[in-house]
Amino acid sequence: MQVDTKDPQRLPEATPELLRELAPVYERIAHVMPEAEWAVHAPYVARINELKRERNAVILAHNYQTPDIFYGVADVTGDSLGLAQKAAEVEGDVIVQCGVHFMAESSKILAPEKTVLLPDMDAGCSLAEGITGADVRLLKEKYPGVPVVVYVNTSAEVKAEADICCTSSNAVEVVESLGTDRVIFAPDKYLGQWVANQTRVEVILYEGSCEVHERFTGEEIEAFRRQHPGIHVLAHPECPQDVLQAADYVGSTSGMIRHLDDTQARQVVMITECSMSDNVSVEHPDKDFVRPCNLCPHMQRITLPKILSALENMAPEVHVDASVIEDARQSLDRMLEVRRRPVAA
Ligand code: 13P
Ligand code: SF4
Repeated sequence: MQVDTKDPQRLPEATPELLRELAPVYERIAHVMPEAEWAVHAPYVARINELKRERNAVILAHNYQTPDIFYGVADVTGDSLGLAQKAAEVEGDVIVQCGVHFMAESSKILAPEKTVLLPDMDAGCSLAEGITGADVRLLKEKYPGVPVVVYVNTSAEVKAEADICCTSSNAVEVVESLGTDRVIFAPDKYLGQWVANQTRVEVILYEGSCEVHERFTGEEIEAFRRQHPGIHVLAHPECPQDVLQAADYVGSTSGMIRHLDDTQARQVVMITECSMSDNVSVEHPDKDFVRPCNLCPHMQRITLPKILSALENMAPEVHVDASVIEDARQSLDRMLEVRRRPVAA
């Protein structure tokens, strides 16, 4: 059956037999998804899993994907660093990237022999869109000889202009791995400032930000603490400095997930995209998650009907320009050689 991405043709609702077959999946996410909603998702989950086998495809899903995708069809889940590492390792002919465009590009750069599908090509990122290769060239002209570190939330063209990439889980190690007194760090000014606060290396910042994380404020954190005494606050380093200063733990999406295993706190709030809390709460039924809801409109573009359509049609496919792929790969490879920092409890 063909599903039009713009107007996805609905699969018929699940039969009782299919619901029984998929009951173990639904049991995990029942506390965040009404039965009526699952009855709509279940036929897609079944068909996508079937097609994955036929196409020898692997689904890589970011931690911000919704629970129907995260628990229903994903083979590998993780943060940007984890997904990039897996893209380079996974078996299979096809990667379906459930995340945003820069993540699919990273997969294609690291696994150029594979077909990389992105179920919605408009799944962008305000950080990636805030900087071009020409902007990096200007920075290099302004600060000759100073190495350029770019966040993975950038286009392949930008990665190709940089010396090395980083993610939110290895940014400090990457900056320090260069052995210089100064680095240029782009595009996220908040992540850059957070790195600067933890190293002696001088960090030259760029004016970029994430439209989802920059909406959080320090006052909001204070309000959470007033309303929920004892609450444990975890924040993503793309948040403004007052938020990070007020948090108990700062780290990447997977860093936050690992940190939850180590904390005894009964009540927690994750200051990040809100699908994360739904996914993470599955593994922590003992914890109460307070859920401020800032959704990433780009991540939310990826849906089960679009994943099905991508596998049916083997499109849309992500390509990376031959003129930048080698240099972009070097920046990613250099990053992957830098050891991931152990997570602080
Ligand atoms: P992570 O690398 O922490 O998963 O972050 C990716 C991202 O886009 C956060 O907004
Ligand atoms: Fe980009 Fe922010 Fe969305 Fe992450 S949450 S993909 S940084 S816009």
